[in-house]
Amino acid sequence: MEKVLLKNLGKPGSHTLANYVASGGYKAFSTALKMKPDNIIQMVKDSGLRGRGGAGFSTGLKWSFIPKDPTLQKYLCCNADEGEPGTFKDRGIIDHDPHLLIEGMAISCYAIGASKSYIYIRGEFVFGAERLQEAIDEAYANGYLGKNIQGSGFDLDMYVHRGFGAYICGEETALLESIEGYRAQPRKKPPFPALAGLYGKPTVINNVETLSCIPAIVEKGPEWFSKMGPVKSPGPKIYCVSGHVKKPGLYELPMGTTARDIIYNHCGGMLRDGKPLKAFIPGGVSAPLLMPADLDTPLDFDSLAAKGTMLGSGAVIVMDTSTCMVKTAYIINRFFSHESCGKCTPCRDGTPWLTRILKRIEHGEGRPGDLELLDGVCDNIFGRTFCPLGDGAVMALRGALKNFREEFQYHIDHKRCMVS
Ligand SMILES: Cc1cc2nc3c(=O)[nH]c(=O)nc-3n(C[C@H](O)[C@H](O)[C@H](O)COP(=O)(O)O)c2cc1C
Ligand code: SF4
Repeated sequence: MEKVLLKNLGKPGSHTLANYVASGGYKAFSTALKMKPDNIIQMVKDSGLRGRGGAGFSTGLKWSFIPKDPTLQKYLCCNADEGEPGTFKDRGIIDHDPHLLIEGMAISCYAIGASKSYIYIRGEFVFGAERLQEAIDEAYANGYLGKNIQGSGFDLDMYVHRGFGAYICGEETALLESIEGYRAQPRKKPPFPALAGLYGKPTVINNVETLSCIPAIVEKGPEWFSKMGPVKSPGPKIYCVSGHVKKPGLYELPMGTTARDIIYNHCGGMLRDGKPLKAFIPGGVSAPLLMPADLDTPLDFDSLAAKGTMLGSGAVIVMDTSTCMVKTAYIINRFFSHESCGKCTPCRDGTPWLTRILKRIEHGEGRPGDLELLDGVCDNIFGRTFCPLGDGAVMALRGALKNFREEFQYHIDHKRCMVS
């Protein structure tokens, strides 16, 4: 497959404007500036591109919700918070090919009529923030950002906004709160950001990988994009593979590649001979895990939803038979309870409660009835929280309990782990 998103990764100086332009960069932006904005939105709709930040919403459709009134200030916010454990794809693009993102954002802003844009980057990504700022400075100096870009009459400013070091900052409305200088907590929806987003103005929020697909759609056409991968979720996808494989890393493959292909062909197979696959998480720690019998499931939005899990951020976490599922569930849940923003009671109180129970089971202090207690607390959180973080915590735990309940019971009964 011809790479689109990671094509410049590993090339010396791939982050510089000179090399980006030499490899055909910013041509799509020049093409776009000669098009009608509505035609670009239609192109993105026709391509079938769905957001790579987790929810898989149609990008073209999202853009079409932005009011057309030219007197209204509109914003584009790029979500580069990348807080989902196991996910490191956006960082790959930002560190090695920042102009790809800037070009994608510039085209997107032109399409929706936004003259101001923000890249909200995870606070810990100091290198990435500096690299982006250098690339933005280069783009201004060479007429790709600023006033009257390439004589088109289109103005665009772009700002890097450093995040505040919390997972919830990646939730799109919490991200807007954070840019505005408030504590990052999700907003009530509706109104949706397309009507009342940043500073109350129409705003599109898209993930780094989503926006980085845009130049190729403009350059090669929506048909080319829509023919790659499954009909309902086409295009290239970056899978972030970590855990017990020989070659973990970023893999750009057609959407819908199976876990078997990824683990055994692209990643060189399981890490330790004699330790076969026990389970894998297909889309970041919020996604319920899958079993070896699911290896042939295409990793795309709809196929994974049909299996009761999700593609999420595309983080594939591979676990061999040496993995203790109780410890794994405990660590994942501890993350969620630590990251709960505290706005709603079921998540604020429920996730630490789950963590306490899991901790005592893991440490050999589990009590009879603890599994039923976990089930009950999950029932009281799921579907009752203000944002999807609480649901994510429950879905991850329920996945582990459903497939490995006997392992949890063994910990309680024998006060020790059955795998180590
Ligand atoms: C708790 C939480 C954390 C999230 N973190 C991220 C993130 O780090 N990056 C991201 O792009 N989307 C994240 N999302 C999804 C965003 O809310 C939003 O759906 C996404 O940025 C939209 O972009 P897309 O349409 O291009 O996928 C998160 C959602 C939740 C509920
Ligand atoms: S579900 Fe958790 S993270 Fe989301 S608003 Fe409620 S407390 Fe905050």
